[in-house]
Amino acid sequence: MDALLSGASEGASALQTSSRHRCPLLSLSLVFGLLLLPVALMLVEDSPLESVPHRSVSYQSNNTLLFREEGVFDYSSMLLREDLDLLVVGARGEVFALNLTDVTKKISSAKWEVSKQQVSECKRKGKNEETDCKNYIRVLHKREDGRMYVCGTNAFDPECDYMSFSDGKLNLEKKVEDGKGKCPFDPFQRHASIMIENDLYSATSMNFLGSEPVLMRSAPSSIRTEIKSSWLYDPNFVSMAWMPESEQSEDGDDDKVYLFFSETAVEYDCYRKLVVSRVARVCKGDLGGERTLQKRWTSFLKARLDCPIPGYRLPFIIQDSYRWCDSSRHWKDCIFYAVFTPQSEISDISAVCAYRMSDISKVFSEGKYKTPASVETSFIKWVIFSGEVPVPRPGACINNEARKMGINQTLQLPDRTLQFIRDKPLMDQAIEPIEGVPVLSRRGAKFTQIIVNQVQALDGEKYNVMFIGTDQGTLLKAFRYSDGEMIIIEEVQLFSSPQPVKILQFSNKTGQIYAGSDVGVVQISPANCERSSTCKDCVSARDPYCGWDSNKGKCVSLSGSQR
Ligand SMILES: *[C@@H]1O[C@H](CO)[C@@H](O)[C@H](O)[C@H]1NC(C)=O
Ligand SMILES: *[C@@H]1O[C@H](CO)[C@@H](O)[C@H](O)[C@H]1NC(C)=O
Ligand SMILES: *[C@@H]1O[C@H](CO)[C@@H](O)[C@H](O)[C@H]1NC(C)=O
Ligand SMILES: *[C@@H]1O[C@H](CO)[C@@H](O)[C@H](O)[C@H]1NC(C)=O
Repeated sequence: MDALLSGASEGASALQTSSRHRCPLLSLSLVFGLLLLPVALMLVEDSPLESVPHRSVSYQSNNTLLFREEGVFDYSSMLLREDLDLLVVGARGEVFALNLTDVTKKISSAKWEVSKQQVSECKRKGKNEETDCKNYIRVLHKREDGRMYVCGTNAFDPECDYMSFSDGKLNLEKKVEDGKGKCPFDPFQRHASIMIENDLYSATSMNFLGSEPVLMRSAPSSIRTEIKSSWLYDPNFVSMAWMPESEQSEDGDDDKVYLFFSETAVEYDCYRKLVVSRVARVCKGDLGGERTLQKRWTSFLKARLDCPIPGYRLPFIIQDSYRWCDSSRHWKDCIFYAVFTPQSEISDISAVCAYRMSDISKVFSEGKYKTPASVETSFIKWVIFSGEVPVPRPGACINNEARKMGINQTLQLPDRTLQFIRDKPLMDQAIEPIEGVPVLSRRGAKFTQIIVNQVQALDGEKYNVMFIGTDQGTLLKAFRYSDGEMIIIEEVQLFSSPQPVKILQFSNKTGQIYAGSDVGVVQISPANCERSSTCKDCVSARDPYCGWDSNKGKCVSLSGSQR
């Protein structure tokens, strides 16, 4: 309902040309909303939005392996340590090392709670003792030396520490470091982080009020975004990913870090705040500018990420993304799968959109920029920049073109390039999903998390199977069949009570899926063929993981040798 055609008074052609930067919701549509209702209903009837899973599996304790510890909540960060056969899980006040093959087996744990003094300080600042003034473990990464880097909200005073695993025990080293800008203060604020070559890249708010969002790389060469609404405007950070773009690069390009988030849009002229989804990226070798943009990214560029749902005009909002790469192919063939939910509470549609890395890369490396322009006295409108773009290209990594000009480091970039990027970090063009439409959209429980796993089915085809976590604690398993049909194989209830799935991980080593929520961690196999008891059911589920074994008279999973 939020989406009805905005331009009731506009001609059809005007609608087409102006759709990009017009506020998608005019008050007119509110007035006519009721009149247009039957149209909206017609749009969705018989659509894939109503697709039901082949199988709905209610909660049974034998569906999954569950780990939970009495009195411990918020199992929302995870680190796969396939080298140690461990799943390291961060919860509220504690870190757990679980057996990767069977998460019900706890190997070790380390408590990290806040002191009485920290709690009273937190309370004094007006925070809730029972919810806010605890240590929520939010950042968990592996370092090159095999140790781990852990950060927690620490009663609204984030701190980080090193953690090792030796002799079967987790040890927090108590070399406490300031967690500001690395980990959120507020446990209910979203954040993202990734560690690359011992450098932590984090996207979070760096102050108590949560009003100073940054994308930051921590010391030794610490660098971050400007605190300006044109860079980040009330963002919700979602996820980060790494791309090895220097590999076999013809133009001597650098590796990049991508950040997925949503934020208030600057580019729409609206009566109300409108949120859009974004992807931003920075270069690994960025050291900031010499005078302009000192200790600030010179390579921060962002673009809108669209996931258009037919019949809906308000942009959908990204909640999670998953980088899927075929290790035998070029990085440009990687695909990002992302889950989206609606801007307005009225609607219960969620969607998955998939983006080609090559399309994302092209917008940043060749696209036009947007620029703020004053209209009348105080009103700023963001329009396409049509002037001369300085060289080196603003926001580009140091590449052969720059090197030819004698520029080997971002510190040597000319002021003209730096001033341009400081004022215009937004690309004009939006990034569109593959084929321009969602891979999957569906009514019901809101999508929260996604992972993707490729599997070769009996027909010889390789399928990318999506596992989607929801805010009701279910896991959807879906893929696109070779005839183009989207098939939801099953929806499994992971937890005994409906709980949002807060994190999903997949281990290549064990071939298992791990999901975390407020109440615990579960492990589930992607296959679960035994749920089909008859040959007919086994075949009609079209599950690419499964096949009917006529010798055994069972629906079995097609692990390598059996096929
Ligand atoms: C799981 O438990 C249910 C009920 O307790 C039982 O009917 C079902 O056969 C079990 N499934 C497996 C795979 O053991
Ligand atoms: C983890 O569990 C598996 C299977 O139960 C077992 O073989 C393995 O020894 C366990 N690993 C550790 C480190 O305890
Ligand atoms: C698992 O395999 C996929 C595909 O080969 C690869 O992209 C991914 O990085 C691997 N994940 C890990 C944690 O090694
Ligand atoms: C850039 O690097 C090249 C080769 O490493 C060197 O010859 C040149 O002097 C450097 N230029 C600057 C401005 O540092």
